[in-house]
Amino acid sequence: MKDANSPHTAHEHQRDSFGSSFGVLVALAGSAVGLGNLWRFPYLVGENGGAAFILIYLGFVLLIGLPILISEFIIGRRSQAAARGAFRKLAPDGRWHVAGSLAVLCCTLILSFYSVVGGWGIEYLIKAFRFDFSSGNTPGMATMFSDFATSTTGPLICHTVFLGVTGLIVIMGVKNGIEKFSKVMMPLLFVIMIGLAVRSLTLPGAKEGIDYLFRPDWSKVTSGTFLAALGQAFFSLSLGSGMVITYGSYVKKKENIVKIGTETAVADTLFALIAGCAIMPAVFAFGISPGEGPGLVFTTLPYIFSQLPAGGVVAILFFLALLLAALTSSISVLEVIVAFTIEEFHLKRKGAVALCLGVIWVLGALCSLSLGVLGDFKVFGKNIFDLFDFASANVLMLIGGLLVVLFVGWKLGRSVIHDELTNSGGLKIPVWLLDTILFLIRFLAPAAIAVIAIFQWI
Ligand code: PHE
Repeated sequence: MKDANSPHTAHEHQRDSFGSSFGVLVALAGSAVGLGNLWRFPYLVGENGGAAFILIYLGFVLLIGLPILISEFIIGRRSQAAARGAFRKLAPDGRWHVAGSLAVLCCTLILSFYSVVGGWGIEYLIKAFRFDFSSGNTPGMATMFSDFATSTTGPLICHTVFLGVTGLIVIMGVKNGIEKFSKVMMPLLFVIMIGLAVRSLTLPGAKEGIDYLFRPDWSKVTSGTFLAALGQAFFSLSLGSGMVITYGSYVKKKENIVKIGTETAVADTLFALIAGCAIMPAVFAFGISPGEGPGLVFTTLPYIFSQLPAGGVVAILFFLALLLAALTSSISVLEVIVAFTIEEFHLKRKGAVALCLGVIWVLGALCSLSLGVLGDFKVFGKNIFDLFDFASANVLMLIGGLLVVLFVGWKLGRSVIHDELTNSGGLKIPVWLLDTILFLIRFLAPAAIAVIAIFQWI
């Protein structure tokens, strides 16, 4: 451990950091809450049969997600370095830093398709402002969505704008960019989502949707449900992607890791459930199929808005919320890659952002085109968009999370975990809690990830 405790170098003194505990929480929660909650969670719930999927998901968040989140936090804060540098600093002798490189690769894939979906959000916000969803204006929402998503120029322009805005916020740095932006946007988002959920839950015919969300039908559960739920838990909590390591490296020693980690997981889960409550009752009230797939939010919600009194305003609010949530997440994904680039290639922040954006723009453009003109190009039977989604959420994040818990549980070990969780003795943590966290990190989380992944991949 001598490296982690050694005096800081001049380079480290220039590192940016978060200004307050609330700032840390909103930045972490801002990263966690995003398209994963508003776009991915609802359609996976719809495809996997509702309440049973949600219960499995909740179990995974608590027993696997939270221990990984805490472990990544420990790695980041103790090393005060970006994803790859963090492992190198804490274990200079081994090859653990490969885990950091995998995380950066994972974030590159995520941001590529994330920016495309964020771009759809921009287009739909514009459509909402133009009242395009009022029933007279369009032939069908499904056609409207697929016409747009499969076209060439429109989605590419939106992808460019979304990525550009993400880059601008990241250039401003941690305290002035990421923290300030998240502090305003997260509470606003919360209020908008609660309002939408209340509207949806009080629709006539909402009851069937509420049953679907809260009454489990175990007959719908297959082995694939477990991988989908685990992948979603990782994606939604931004785990195994180096995000918590990177943000954790901007956190000061006085913050309580267990507390902030738990609050982040609770906020993220609440947002997912609120998004479910905003979407599913409405889907059922209007007789739409919940198993619509990735287009669920974009295809069915505009139809719902068109049927609501004051639906035009609700549509604007919803897509605004979706965009804000997407941005507070996309900046965190970019920050992982940028922090890595600054550290590894000794670049200035601006130069690093420009370089990363260039690479991701090209990959994102391929994702977008793979839904249209490049649709016939398939790898393992998937187009590029689906391939990037699967490779990140269902493969790389799981491998990353597994390596993180093995590293913290076995390589760093009990005394380091104890030291970090109690801030070197300053905080009191009951022994049973420490033992439980240790057990989850050392045994349960790695075993569960390995079993689920191996069953699925082979
Ligand atoms: N958790 C984010 C979401 O739900 C996505 C994300 C993944 C962000 C990985 C950072 C790192 O939208």
